[in-house]
This record gives sequence, structure tokens and C-alpha cells, in this order.
Amino acid sequence: MKRSKRNFGIVTSLLVIPLILSACSSEAVEENDVVRADANKTEVIGAHESLIQEPVAPEVERDGSDVYIQMTAQITDVEIANTYNYKAWTFNGEAPGPVIVVNEGDTIRFTLENLDPSIPHSMDFHAVHTAPNKGFADVAPNEEGTFVFPANSPGVFMYHCGTDPVLSHIANGMHGVIIVQPAEGYPTDAEIDQEFVIIQNEWYRYNDLEDMTNGEPSQVVFSTKALHDGQVNTNGTVGGLIDRPLEAKAGEKIRFYVANMGPNEYSSFHVIGTVFDDVYIDGSPFNHYKGMQTVGLPASGGAVAEFTLTDEGEYKFVTHHFNHV
Ligand code: CU
Ligand code: CU
Repeated sequence: MKRSKRNFGIVTSLLVIPLILSACSSEAVEENDVVRADANKTEVIGAHESLIQEPVAPEVERDGSDVYIQMTAQITDVEIANTYNYKAWTFNGEAPGPVIVVNEGDTIRFTLENLDPSIPHSMDFHAVHTAPNKGFADVAPNEEGTFVFPANSPGVFMYHCGTDPVLSHIANGMHGVIIVQPAEGYPTDAEIDQEFVIIQNEWYRYNDLEDMTNGEPSQVVFSTKALHDGQVNTNGTVGGLIDRPLEAKAGEKIRFYVANMGPNEYSSFHVIGTVFDDVYIDGSPFNHYKGMQTVGLPASGGAVAEFTLTDEGEYKFVTHHFNHV
């Protein structure tokens, strides 16, 4: 396996500023034993071998404050480095999965359709208060699971598959971001000109639980998810945001919804050549910090990070753990 470590994106500003810029039963327990055994191999699970499931877009429909969200668990090849495809375990064929945006006060009516023919998957939203053995229960192959939760906590939250062994399911690609927009907004909303979603995650040797547990990541990558029409949407591909930098104009105030999926590494998120004027840790308006050079993101952590690029140019962002850059 190619071990490449090139982890930075770029924001440029337009005047030529690229702003680089189910219920658990004894059956399920037996299935989990099978999963654990399989996940200790580095090989593709047999049933996945020739499987490339076409990405299925998530369905999000609003009816008042009820939001119906339907997502899939599916097996899809994801390019994570030039000519290197990873047979990822995904939500909706993307890794990281699609960004989901709801409002504080909404009721989420969530359905997971498990298109994987061989192993169970599930959904764990960090934005939720629920008994995980109920809300986040495994969904068997070719079945659907539903749960309902109120989105009462605003912020930038991780979601991930919570099926055992969780490390395999996250590291194989089953993670993403849900943004719960605060009912009263952020105090800096009126200043924002551009906003983007930035996600960090790391990859390991294919489906190798031993490497995921004790090894070093093979790749540490940034991706972006389209928040608005016309925005770029990428997987966790090495150099993905170098090839397609984010763009903004000099002087505009930029907001990043940034999150670190891990599964293991800490992120010291930093934009070279600027200071974060306003930061909301975990995206909560109550956690408002000013003048930060680097935003610390534990595995699963998120933030809203805002800054202005005063001069035209190319601005790289990195995790300041430079062994990963
Ligand atoms: Cu899973
Ligand atoms: Cu979690």
C-alpha cells in the first residue's frame, strides 16, 4: 500500500485569491461475531469483492419542523489517492458521507437503508440524546431501521456507523457531519460572506483492524462537502482540495464548519497566514472564542471557525501535526 501523506487544502481569493481558501437479538450478536472475525482480515469481505454500489443521494424532506432523512449504508469504491481506490464502507457512497443540515428545534425522522448484502450497519448521530441500544441499533443487511429524535443542541456534530467493531466501520469510511443550526443564529452571522464545510479523516491499510488499532495512518486527508449549490463536494482524497481550491474574495469573512472524523488522530486545524477571529467550539454559540491561531479538534470534534483573508493569494490549511502534512 502506498503511504502518502499530503494533508493540506487551499483557500484562494477570487481577485485571484484562491480561498483554498433493528433490534439487537441473538442473531445480531452472531452477526457481530462474524463481523469481528472478518474485520481482523485485511482482505475485502467476500460479498463485497465485486460490489460497487452506485452512490444513492440522501433524501431530505421538510414538513414544518419535521425533517425526514433517508440515508443508505453501501459499499462503493472511493478514490483516496491517485489510482488507489478503497472499497469503502460508506453512507450514500461518499466517504466522508454527505453533510446533513437541520435547524435547532427540528424533529428528525431518520431512516437507514442497509444496502450492504453481508453485514449490519447503523447510525450514531452525536447531535442526539437517545439510548444507543435503541436509537443506534444495528440494521441487518437489506433491511431498514428508523428512529426519531429532536435536534435540540445546536452545533457541528459527527455521525458515524456504530456497529461493532466501530473502529473498522469508521476507518473504512462510515462517518460524516450533521450541522444543527442554532435557533438564534451565531452573533457573527451578519458578517459572513462565504461558508464551507471542511472535514479531516485518516485512512489505514484496507480493512485491517490491527493497523487501525496500532498502526500509523496511511493517509491523512481533508475533504469538503457542498453546503450550497455550485460548491465542490469531495471524498477524503489526497490533495482533493489542492486540485480544486475553495475560492473567496480578499476581505470577505469566511466561515468554516470544520470537523475531525479521526478515527484516531487529533487535528490542530490552522489556516496559514491568518487568525481565526471568531471560533465556536463544537459549533455551539455559547462556546465563542476570539483570536485563535489553531483550533483543536479531538477525534469526533467540530467547530465553526471564522476568518478574513486580507491579501490576495493562496492560503493553505493544515493540521499543525506536521508529521501528517
Ligand atoms: Cu457500518
Ligand atoms: Cu461516536
